[in-house]
Amino acid sequence: MILSPSLGGVTLRLAILSRGPRLYSTRRLQEEAIKRGIQTSILDPLQFTLSISKDSPQILHKGDKVNFDAVLPRIGHSITSHGVALLKQFEQLDIYTANASQGIRQSRNKLLAAQILGRNNVPIPKTAYVRNINDVERAIHLVGGLPVVIKVSEGTQGRGVYLRHLYKDAIGLVSALLDLDHEVLIQEYIHESHGTDIRALVVGDKVVASMRRRARGREFRSNFHLNGTVEPVDLPPEYEEIALRAARVLGLNIAGVDLLEGENGPLVLEINSSPGLEGIEMASGINVAEKIIDFLEEDAQFVKVSMDQLLLTVPGHGILPIHLVNHPWLVGEQIGEIFNDPETHAFALSRDRQLVWQPKNDLKLRYNDILIFYGNLHQLRINLKNVLNYEEYNNMKNSSELGKTGNAKNSEFNNI
Ligand SMILES: Nc1ncnc2c1ncn2[C@@H]1O[C@H](COP(=O)(O)OP(=O)(O)O)[C@@H](O)[C@H]1O
Ligand SMILES: [Mg+2]
Repeated sequence: MILSPSLGGVTLRLAILSRGPRLYSTRRLQEEAIKRGIQTSILDPLQFTLSISKDSPQILHKGDKVNFDAVLPRIGHSITSHGVALLKQFEQLDIYTANASQGIRQSRNKLLAAQILGRNNVPIPKTAYVRNINDVERAIHLVGGLPVVIKVSEGTQGRGVYLRHLYKDAIGLVSALLDLDHEVLIQEYIHESHGTDIRALVVGDKVVASMRRRARGREFRSNFHLNGTVEPVDLPPEYEEIALRAARVLGLNIAGVDLLEGENGPLVLEINSSPGLEGIEMASGINVAEKIIDFLEEDAQFVKVSMDQLLLTVPGHGILPIHLVNHPWLVGEQIGEIFNDPETHAFALSRDRQLVWQPKNDLKLRYNDILIFYGNLHQLRINLKNVLNYEEYNNMKNSSELGKTGNAKNSEFNNI
């Protein structure tokens, strides 16, 4: 059995997964980990063998069973899918990973990331996705007209990001990118941010450092790798909040969040799950590597659980969400009045895309709410039938049984 460091008083054994042991960021993380007495090795993510089976999944490194408690991934873009598979295997063996496979996968695809961010109330530049050249002009209109930024979904370090001022140039470029089998995004050009962006470095639930990056000359891309310069910046609270939310909804503990300074506030551009440390340590003067190791040491005490997976493990059981738009006669009613039977207890509610955990009995339902039930799906459907069908609901209400059972006042469910 692997003992966790603080629980067992045993030294934490850490593997930094990196192809570049001599890279600045990798070296800094190793240095800070060793300073803390953490037994640290840097391992090439391409030198693992995964054995996958029902009973005994395994991970071998150069043929040997792995013997560490925690993994700090520094997965390069070119090996994303391999890295994600490797991390997933660590997760399945309950070995701690500082960033989870899902977060890395989601953040590496600009289209998927934009969808998740947009859906979770994180402001992003208007973005369109097209697959057919005939749709390009429409997409440009959708994002507010020319000029537009055109980028490939899997790009990095500024490669695959273009600014186009004319329809014919935009269409020609998209056509060429589609021919090369790229996923293509067409994005509103945030002109007020031309040539600059802000990098906020998120570790856990804090922004530990930030910097402004500036492009050189007439270049509009401010990537460090394109010779951009870095400078310190005082991050306004609004920027900090958005950066934290962006990292959280993508599922990343450690993230470099890139923000543009739009007229109406911050816009999230992209999120890097293996943020470089050189520029940000230089610009901010903050020991970011130490903050990451501090966080990791603390967080490695807790295991990760995939709730989605877990909720699927009981045969016949599952999540049953109902959307009030489909049952508008329930709008305005109190939850405890309608769902007054312990068998049909909504354990959560989604309101304005925010989670309300264990909603109180006196919470009044709104048009856009989504109520979330868990249990035996067959039974749940039967139990909910009266409420979900307008006529049956009316009959039930008229016979005024509802609300008199006393269940609604049952304090067992008054837990907010
Ligand atoms: N919509 C946009 N408006 C203004 N500038 C942008 C926009 N999209 C990208 N840029 C500039 O281009 C740079 C690279 O774009 P980004 O989407 O981060 O791709 P990469 O993953 O290659 O870094 C950004 O840092 C920013 O300076
Ligand atoms: Mg970028």
